[in-house]
Amino acid sequence: MEKEQPEKEIYRMLSESGYSDKAIRYYQTKENLGIIVDADQVTDVTGPCGDRMKISLKIEDDKINDAKMQVLGCPGAVASACALISLAKGKTLKEAGQIDLDGLYRELEKLPDQKVHCARLAIKTLQKALEQYTEKAGKSQLG
Ligand code: FES
Repeated sequence: MEKEQPEKEIYRMLSESGYSDKAIRYYQTKENLGIIVDADQVTDVTGPCGDRMKISLKIEDDKINDAKMQVLGCPGAVASACALISLAKGKTLKEAGQIDLDGLYRELEKLPDQKVHCARLAIKTLQKALEQYTEKAGKSQLG
């Protein structure tokens, strides 16, 4: 039997596990993964499963001009992080803070049920970054 291409094989495995085509595409293209070197905010969160996400945000006039996420984790974590960043880019801080699990799930279309916590971790990371940035910005205005 001919050996399957690794990409196709991974696609098949993820699809059988319950990932939508769109979620698999995010996982495979790794769109939005990485770090912004001159970021205005960098926040690192470790989930209960031990996986880690680090988000970096470039913010101007209360708007997220650019964002990236580094992920040490499972395919659900990678797909969630990539999808969340594409939702958050171009939004105001307030709009980005309103992205919830439902919104992220709409973007991903489908993850396996056991992967809900991965999407939650992505949202928690963004929310914590927004909180820390707002706190910092508030302090610098006072000082
Ligand atoms: Fe930890 Fe997916 S198993 S984020």
